[in-house]
Amino acid sequence: MAEPILEVLDLKVYFSVKKGIFSSTKSLVRAVDGVTFSMKEGDILTIVGESGCGKTTLGKAVAGLVKPSSGKILFYGKDIYSMDKKEYMNYRRNVQMIHQDPYASLNPVKTVYKILSTPLLRWGIVSGEEEARRRALDLLEIVGLTPPDYFINKYPHQLSGGQRQRLIVARAISVEPKIIVADEPITMIDVSLRLGILDLLLDLRKKMGLTVIFITHDFGAARYFSAKGGGDIAVMYLGKIVEKGPAESVIQEPLHPYTKTLIAAVPEPDPKYSRTKERIRLRSLDIPSPINPPPGCRFHTRCPLYMEVCSEREPPLVQLTNDREVSCFLYTEFSEKKA
Ligand SMILES: Nc1ncnc2c1ncn2[C@@H]1O[C@H](COP(=O)(O)OP(=O)(O)OP(=O)(O)O)[C@@H](O)[C@H]1O
Ligand SMILES: [Mg+2]
Repeated sequence: MAEPILEVLDLKVYFSVKKGIFSSTKSLVRAVDGVTFSMKEGDILTIVGESGCGKTTLGKAVAGLVKPSSGKILFYGKDIYSMDKKEYMNYRRNVQMIHQDPYASLNPVKTVYKILSTPLLRWGIVSGEEEARRRALDLLEIVGLTPPDYFINKYPHQLSGGQRQRLIVARAISVEPKIIVADEPITMIDVSLRLGILDLLLDLRKKMGLTVIFITHDFGAARYFSAKGGGDIAVMYLGKIVEKGPAESVIQEPLHPYTKTLIAAVPEPDPKYSRTKERIRLRSLDIPSPINPPPGCRFHTRCPLYMEVCSEREPPLVQLTNDREVSCFLYTEFSEKKA
């Protein structure tokens, strides 16, 4: 069996925030609260969950942009926080993050050439400006910004949202990373351009053997991405993974009541199908705060299938079958009885 490229073990990221502008007391935001998963080279993991559930924080921790409060991140079996400086820099180069906002992630006073050549020169991937220009033109071609000569001297404001996101993808792959963390890469761009960006990521994954973490709050996008690329889906709720498994299987047969509500909320193009779809009524529409998450199962305050045990104990994430994991007493009770 191939060695995992990435292992995330019981990862927690807490932020200490002031209770109010004038208050000196602090509270802890449990943005990521005990996440474990592992990926092999070339794997795709789609992380899906509502706003504020900790997706970006998890992605940033994996990319080394936020320091975890506890837990481990292993790259080819090595803890990234026990690496020496050179190894750690190598890790940072190998994990590139594509951020949600293509407008904020590009320096407005740099040309496309400057944006692409800076990392190439910094990491010594090219030996000088001439080679950097050639490589930058190749990268533009790869991400579909063609003809590349037309784009190379432009500034970010001269590009559309979709073109900027392609440029960000080009910059991310310029340093030949092994892992891409794409955090809501299509949320801020026009609907008509979204599928193009997802297709580009999948195409690059195939060509470059990339390992991809795709983060989205939109189950529709998760479905499109995984229908084409396969891989696993992990569903997050208030800092935790509540369900994980092969994408197709999670979509066709969601187990956790939260996953069922997310899937039920995806609009169907065919009204006939919409009518037959299982309707799920949440007990409450409010998402509880990660500062003070509900005791027991964090979803119990909204769960339509709430049982008494759910507010008393926290359901562990259990391996229900070979490839499906779920954290819900509907299944742990079941698996205990079976055992
Ligand atoms: N630097 C920070 N300081 C304090 N709290 C933070 C910080 N970054 C994130 N948080 C909080 O952590 C929680 C998780 O935030 P995060 O951005 O990871 O969620 P998300 O799932 O990416 O949400 P969205 O779908 O809106 O992007 C939120 O309650 C957020 O307010
Ligand atoms: Mg986010």
